[in-house]
Amino acid sequence: MPSPPAPYDAIILGAGAAGLMCAAVAGQRGRRVLLIDHAEAPGKKILISGGGRCNFTNIHTAPDRYLSQNPHFARSALSRYTAQDFLALVESHGIAWHEKTLGQLFCDGSARQIVAMLLEECAKGAVELRCGQGVSEVDHADGLFRVLAGGQSATAPALVIATGGPSIPKMGATGFAYELGRRFGLKIVQPRPALVPLTLSGADALFRDLSGVSTPVVARCGKMAFREAALFTHRGLSGPAILQISSYWKHGEDIAIDYLPDHAADWLLIAKRTSPRATVRRVLRHALPERLADALDARLALAGDLGNLSDRALGAAQARLADWRFTPTGSEGFAKAEVTAGGIDTDGLSSRTMESRRLPGLYAIGEAVDVTGWLGGYNFQWAWASARAAGEAL
Ligand code: FDA
Repeated sequence: MPSPPAPYDAIILGAGAAGLMCAAVAGQRGRRVLLIDHAEAPGKKILISGGGRCNFTNIHTAPDRYLSQNPHFARSALSRYTAQDFLALVESHGIAWHEKTLGQLFCDGSARQIVAMLLEECAKGAVELRCGQGVSEVDHADGLFRVLAGGQSATAPALVIATGGPSIPKMGATGFAYELGRRFGLKIVQPRPALVPLTLSGADALFRDLSGVSTPVVARCGKMAFREAALFTHRGLSGPAILQISSYWKHGEDIAIDYLPDHAADWLLIAKRTSPRATVRRVLRHALPERLADALDARLALAGDLGNLSDRALGAAQARLADWRFTPTGSEGFAKAEVTAGGIDTDGLSSRTMESRRLPGLYAIGEAVDVTGWLGGYNFQWAWASARAAGEAL
């Protein structure tokens, strides 16, 4: 009678950014690693990221650029595997890169290079990769995890949950990480769409006529503010400034837009002195895209030349343009969210190793965990850093 196959040292579920990195690190440390994904190919989100060029890290990575119920949790992993460390790996594979803006690093060529690099690193560690295998059972007994996937059973003393979050379900994203986490005693922080366009209705819906107009703004919500472009869409608001602020926005809250962040606070009063014959519409058209200028002018409803308008009226208009309020009715949801905020509660995990405090041998990494980065390469950096932390502990 043939003896049962020797168990692996670790089974990693999910061959996305975090799973591939973790498998490579553990494999290169001599661990026997099985990496399983239900998708036909690994790293699908990497391939579509950054418009196909993968914004693979951000040189300004710091813990305060992440949301989590425990804002200190990400600190340890991020400090032990930095943006520079990932960049060194990228360069060692001869991948050309550039900084686009705000510290965001992209491939010059294609995101495919990042997936190829991670697969090469996995091959160096003799990682066994099985794609197209739905996981039908996971259990734990006698110190071993047993995973049934694609009709084959495998066992290992360590299991890594790297199946990401449910954003963009049509790409195969699932909430499987939460199901597994709960089953093994981990708590879940309510998952919600983040880095997501916001929707408008009621009086705000009039702005949907501006669909396609983009302009640099400062978008604020509570104490957070982002200075980037906002884009009007046929459903509401998008663009980097809005995606960023969406991660902090909660139902019922306003977001505030400063349309003219580079203008002096009293710019309309100055314009009144320097160009008294100009209209509000004309000066707005000078500073903003024409369609937006006209829409704002119509809402401000200040007819006539600046010289004939009171300082009080112009002061109020200036203040409104610097703090234009919207009350979004919602977001475009997981279907359009770049990431999921919330997820496996960090309380149940070691910040050094990502191992469960309750069940030794169980790990959770990447987007599955309640750590969510800003737009601009921060989420991949968390995937790499948390994966590395676990990979070194396996
Ligand atoms: P990821 O989602 O990458 O991987 C999870 C893996 O688990 C997938 O391969 C999936 O198939 C598999 N899986 C899921 N359920 C399973 C199950 N039940 N059984 C087996 N396998 C299962 N970030 C950034 O920093 N820079 C960027 O440029 C972008 N761009 C971007 C664009 C778009 C359109 C999206 C949607 C997202 C981004 N992101 C990004 C975010 C980034 O893609 C994301 O944070 C990381 O991919 C998270 O890595 P993970 O490995 O944790 O999950």
